[in-house]
Amino acid sequence: MAFVIVALDGPTGVGKSTLACQLAERNQLLYINTGSMFRCLAWKWNRLDKPENDEALQKLGEQTQIVLEADGRVRCDGEEISSVIRTEELSALASQVSRFVPIRHALKFQQRQLVEQAKIGGAYRGAVLEGRDIGTVVLPKADCKFFVEASPETRARRRFVELQAKDPGVRFEDVLEALKQRDEQDRNRSEAPLHKAANAILVDTSNLNFEQVLSVLEQYLRPFLLTESS
Ligand code: DC
Repeated sequence: MAFVIVALDGPTGVGKSTLACQLAERNQLLYINTGSMFRCLAWKWNRLDKPENDEALQKLGEQTQIVLEADGRVRCDGEEISSVIRTEELSALASQVSRFVPIRHALKFQQRQLVEQAKIGGAYRGAVLEGRDIGTVVLPKADCKFFVEASPETRARRRFVELQAKDPGVRFEDVLEALKQRDEQDRNRSEAPLHKAANAILVDTSNLNFEQVLSVLEQYLRPFLLTESS
């Protein structure tokens, strides 16, 4: 049975993680959250006082053990950092670290390796990778590519609701501003900037709820899975 590779790219706050996670669970796919990998390295980069030279960045990328556990927990060199890497501060740091070429190269290699291992392991029918450059750079031959979009205001509104539950003092304008800054960095960096692959399916989620988006993605994915099991 062949292995179906799904690339799910899009900007910050568009709901990719929840979508990818559900898509994986419902279709027996391995879920790889590549943003968590960048967040992990950003966390360590910050601890190392943010070196910018290639040698230090290469070492950081190649000699950090990142483990994405099945329940969503993340370990960095054995340390459990799942909640620390979800803060607004780490979001900004991850966006900064993601512009460095040695970091991108190291993670691209690891992401491809995770897919290869899952292919050999036989426990999954495929893999879904969510990120910014999966369909364009990491796995340009992915079977099914999605680019999920929504307006900055819609994305900021969703993020604002999440953050407000933890901190009632949070301001919508600040959330929107931080989101626009990350968008700007992610779309304009020279290495693997965020953009839609020519053959990716564009899904605008601005006027759709979660179930509707999931159903659109599964409609496109279904023929690949049917072919694989027949
Ligand atoms: O998806 P996320 O918000 O957890 O990602 C955090 C940062 O990592 C994001 O601002 C850009 C970067 N990133 C990237 O450059 N390429 C990826 N494939 C995934 C994330």
